Amino acid sequence: MSKITAAITAVGGYVPDYVLTNKKLEEMVDTNDEWITTRTGIKERRILKDSDKGTSYLAIQAAKECLKKNNTDPKDIDLVIMSTATPDMPVAATGVYVASQIGAINAFSYDLVAACSSFLYGMSTAASYIESGRYKKVLLIGADKMSSIIDYEDRATCIIFGDGGGAVLFEPSEEGYGVQDEFLRSDGIGRQSLKIDAGGSLMPASAETVANKQHFVFQDGKTVFKFAVSNMADVSAKIMQRNNLSADDVNWLVPHQANKRIIDATAKRMGLDDEKVMMNIHKYGNTTSATLPLCLVDYESKLKKGDNLVFASFGGGFTWGAVYVTWAYDSK
Ligand code: UT7
Repeated sequence: MSKITAAITAVGGYVPDYVLTNKKLEEMVDTNDEWITTRTGIKERRILKDSDKGTSYLAIQAAKECLKKNNTDPKDIDLVIMSTATPDMPVAATGVYVASQIGAINAFSYDLVAACSSFLYGMSTAASYIESGRYKKVLLIGADKMSSIIDYEDRATCIIFGDGGGAVLFEPSEEGYGVQDEFLRSDGIGRQSLKIDAGGSLMPASAETVANKQHFVFQDGKTVFKFAVSNMADVSAKIMQRNNLSADDVNWLVPHQANKRIIDATAKRMGLDDEKVMMNIHKYGNTTSATLPLCLVDYESKLKKGDNLVFASFGGGFTWGAVYVTWAYDSK
C-alpha cells in the first residue's frame, strides 16, 4: 500500500468590505503613508466593523467558500481545526461553533493557538491526522479579527494588523501530493516582545487592566523583527536543503505577511525572484492566522499540479517554521 500524504484540495477566503487605508490612519495617529509603506509594505487593511460579529464570522465565510469550490458536503468533514489568536470568547472554542454553523455536524473541532504561526502549525496537525489514515477530510481554518485587540491610538501596532479569514481542505493523496516535510520551532523568550498582558489566568480582567489598556496587543517591533528576519529565512533555507530543493525547484514561497522586508529577506536567502513570492500584505496587512490561506486564495489561479511550495511563518511566542508542500490540482 502506498504511503498516504495530505493534499490541499480546496481553498477559500474572506475579508470584510471596510478598507482602512494609510491615509485614514494618518488622521487617527501620528504616522504617514510613506513611513508605513517603506517600513512594512502595507497600503491598506480590511476591518470587520460590525460590533456583533467576531472571528467566527470571518471563519464561516471562508470555510463556506472553500467547501463550495469543490462541492464538499460539510457532513463529510471529520475535523475542523480553527487556528486563531482572537477566539470569539475565552471559553467555548470558536472552532466548535464554526463547525456547527457550516453544517459540519459529524466533525469534532478545536482551536489551535500559536499567534501568527497558528495556521502553519495547523498544517502540521491536519496533515498528521490525514497521514495516520484515521480521517479523510480535515478543514483547517485560519481567521483573526485583529481589530478587536488593537489600540487605534498606538501607532506601533495599529498600522500593521487587519481582519480576515482563510480555509483549506486536506484530503488523502495516494499519488504523493501535499505536505512533504516540516521544520517547526518555538522559543518562550518571545513572550515579552509580543503579547497581551491581561485577560488570561496570570492577569485576569479588572477595571485597572482596562484603564491601563492591557487588553491590547503590545509589540516590541524591533526585537520581533530581528528574530523574525533571521529565523524565517533560516527555516526556509533549511527545508530546501533537507529536501534537496534548489531555487529552481521551488515554484512558490508562501510567507506569513507581517512585513515586506522580512519576506524579501527570506526570498533572498532562498535565492527566489520576486515573481515566485506570494505577496498581498499591501492589501490586507498582517491578518495573523489568515495570511497563509489568503495568499493561496489570491494565487490559486496561478498554481499548477506538482508545483513545489514552501510555507513559512514567524509569530508571537515566539513560534516559527516552514512547511514544504507539493500542490495537488490545477485551477478550474
Ligand atoms: O506577525 C507577527 C510578527 N511580527 C512581526 O514580524 C513584526 C516585526 N517588526 C516590524 O515589522 C517592525 O519592527 C515594525 C514595522 C513594527 C516597525 O518598524 P521599525 O523599522 O522596526 O521601526 P522602529 O520600531 O525601530 O521605529 C523607528 C522610528 C521610531 O522613532 P525614533 O525613536 O527613531 O524617533 C518610532 O517611534 O519610527 C517611529 N514609529 C513610527 N513613525 C511613524 C513607530 N511607528 C511609527 C508609525 N509611523 N506608525
